[in-house]
Amino acid sequence: MSDKIAYSRNGDIAVLTIQNPPVNALSHAVRQGLMDRMDQAEADSGVRAVMIVGEGRAFIAGADITEFGKPQMAPALPDVINRIEASPLIVVASMHGVSLGGGLEVVLGCHYRIAVPSARIGLPEVNLGLIPGAGGTQRLSRVAGVDAALDIMTTGRQISAAEAAKIGVIDVVQDGDPLENGLAYVTDLLAKDAPRRPVSEIAAPEAIDWDAAYDAVLARGRGQISPAQCVRAVQAGVEMPFSEGLAAERQIFTDLLKSDQSKGMIHSFFSERAVGRLPELKGVKPRPLDHIGVIGGGTMGAGIATSALLSGLQVTLIEMTPAACEAAHERIEGNLAGALRRGKITAEQHETILNETLTVTNDYADLSDADLVIEAVFEDMAVKKKVFIKLDRVCKQGAILASNTSYLDVDEIAAVTSRPQDVIGLHFFSPAHVMKLLEVVVAEKTAIDVVATGFELGKRMKKISVRAGVCDGFIGNRILATYRDAADQMVMEGASPYDIDAALEGFGFAMGPFAVADLAGLDIGWAVRKRKRVEAGIEGVSTYADKMCEAGNFGQKTGTGYYDYAAGAKARVPNPEVMSLIVADRTAVGTVQRTFTTEQIIRRYMASMVNEAAKVVGEGIARRPLDVDMTLLFGYGFPRYWGGPLKWADIVGLPDLLEDIATYAKNDSNFWEVAPLLKELVATSKSFDSLNKES
Ligand code: 3HC
Ligand code: NAI
Repeated sequence: MSDKIAYSRNGDIAVLTIQNPPVNALSHAVRQGLMDRMDQAEADSGVRAVMIVGEGRAFIAGADITEFGKPQMAPALPDVINRIEASPLIVVASMHGVSLGGGLEVVLGCHYRIAVPSARIGLPEVNLGLIPGAGGTQRLSRVAGVDAALDIMTTGRQISAAEAAKIGVIDVVQDGDPLENGLAYVTDLLAKDAPRRPVSEIAAPEAIDWDAAYDAVLARGRGQISPAQCVRAVQAGVEMPFSEGLAAERQIFTDLLKSDQSKGMIHSFFSERAVGRLPELKGVKPRPLDHIGVIGGGTMGAGIATSALLSGLQVTLIEMTPAACEAAHERIEGNLAGALRRGKITAEQHETILNETLTVTNDYADLSDADLVIEAVFEDMAVKKKVFIKLDRVCKQGAILASNTSYLDVDEIAAVTSRPQDVIGLHFFSPAHVMKLLEVVVAEKTAIDVVATGFELGKRMKKISVRAGVCDGFIGNRILATYRDAADQMVMEGASPYDIDAALEGFGFAMGPFAVADLAGLDIGWAVRKRKRVEAGIEGVSTYADKMCEAGNFGQKTGTGYYDYAAGAKARVPNPEVMSLIVADRTAVGTVQRTFTTEQIIRRYMASMVNEAAKVVGEGIARRPLDVDMTLLFGYGFPRYWGGPLKWADIVGLPDLLEDIATYAKNDSNFWEVAPLLKELVATSKSFDSLNKES
């Protein structure tokens, strides 16, 4: 018999304790164990009730996701749950921690349910591109009603024990030990001769307008298919007998399990957890991290300071003048007010941060005690070098000196200090207190415990930290520069920015590249182009993008860019002046014009992204394909259900992509130079994911 489920007797109650650390996932051994222990309880003379509890930090976190994609081994979860529900004994779940997915489905197969107040429940299958597949759609809608059930399963959100009690999922919420509470509750139920209470015997809920609900959920899903499929599964449960509804749900679940979207989302789930796990950091102790310095209180410095303050760190921010100090303070105050409004901090914490943990000053000497200082001044090598020389002078021995530079060479910055081993890049994304991505840029001489401290800071700030090597733009901005070029080339060849944005938004990006440019501000790229032309001695040239800026179209901040935002960001419409500027440029350059289908736009844009990403991995700038995938997912709005560009490449097939690139290269062999790694993978019939598994 399986040792994943411990069996014990407490008077006339059989206690089944799930012991499958870390989160009691419903692996094959757990499912078999539950079957066996139910048999044992029913055969055990004098047992009148079964109580199920979880050992460790969760009741049950759901099906074992590592088993997905492998041959299913009996007993299947729906059979286990039906068997629990059909028991002649009364069966009670006593919950703590999370009961998610299959975990909540087990709970709903029990006849009574008690939980501690901190317990949380949910059906997060949609986050894996799935729907609940073991009765969740059928039983939750019977217990809580269609609206509440659809809300929980289509959003995948976790709800508190109190909320679960309100909708009838939990019968009793009681503080204390789940085992003790549960036993007392079951004893009470037995004393009252409480009947079995199978959820499957509850009458089906009232029908709703299923098509309208389906369409509404689909529209919210930005191309994700599984949430809307929850509606169809619940509909089946309302329109058909319970067993047929259950079969319909299972069919949708197994179909989705084979879908590209679930493959992408499952890849995202595991990669998100693997990305911060670097073999070389195993056992390396991070340096102390209590007091953070931030240099520059502009957009990024204020955001970084806010993120550090919200993580409980003490922050000293340095600006150039008293007026700049005041402006930086105001920015941070604004960010913190937002955090307070959204309930991320209490009013008391807000006060403490502003009055005690944050200092804004123009005196570098105040950094003498800082453990780590993050520079976020202008993107200018000379300015940054001056700052690092000063930091080297004032910071204590062992303090880490970090740069938030977007593109500049961290080795060159490190070289101006007497301690290059303590210098690292910490590249945050804007707004830094909101965006999840942190690129930890490891320079040539960076000490390993400094890298470990970078990852530790990311963890404290609840970021997804990715290790990157030094190159122009590191992982993310380097790849971005390439796919932006691909988009610009398509514009010159005949696609409009609006066709391109629409195609990529249809693909699942939150925003297309031109809408993103409007959001970031078109003046930034304009300034870079002007500077580069001055450096190259070619002034007087003006592209359509320059002309847009010359006319004051900087994007959202001026109300016009590629789009006109007069009616708000969401109600954007194409700016009528843009196309004529583009057409003039096309004519002047004499590019051969063609048409692009949506599919052609996506293929070419994605091919450029994958090719550059393969170079980034091949050169060791990113250690693994999954590092690129997580960078694009958490920093660049890449759709989670594709798992990242390299997972997408594996899904669509590398040989086809290579062929696409060869076709594009006929017109521009420089830009479309194939990444050696991509060639090698195709030649050896391997996938990018195989490299993740090797590492
Ligand atoms: N299956 C397999 N492994 C799982 C797992 C699961 N359901 N849930 C978590 N794990 C693993 C993680 O991969 C991680 O492994 P690692 O240490 O090797 O990286 C470990 O457990 C701890 O997980 P976290 O680092 O995420 O720990 P947290 O405490 O931050 O979070 C959690 C715990 C809230 C349970 C979170 O892990 C989670 O959300 N898990 C997924 C829950 C889920 O999606 N359940 C539904 C599964 S699908 C299903 O049930 C289908 C059914 O309807 C048929
Ligand atoms: P910003 O112009 O908004 O802020 C820079 C601030 O630094 C200004 O407030 C300025 O007064 C201050 N400053 C300049 N020199 C200083 C000095 N010697 N001592 C103290 N303060 C000084 O610039 P932003 O956008 O915050 O960028 C800062 C850095 O972050 C740049 O390196 C940029 O490339 C990088 N970055 C920017 C992102 C963005 O989206 N804005 C994203 C990621 C990185």
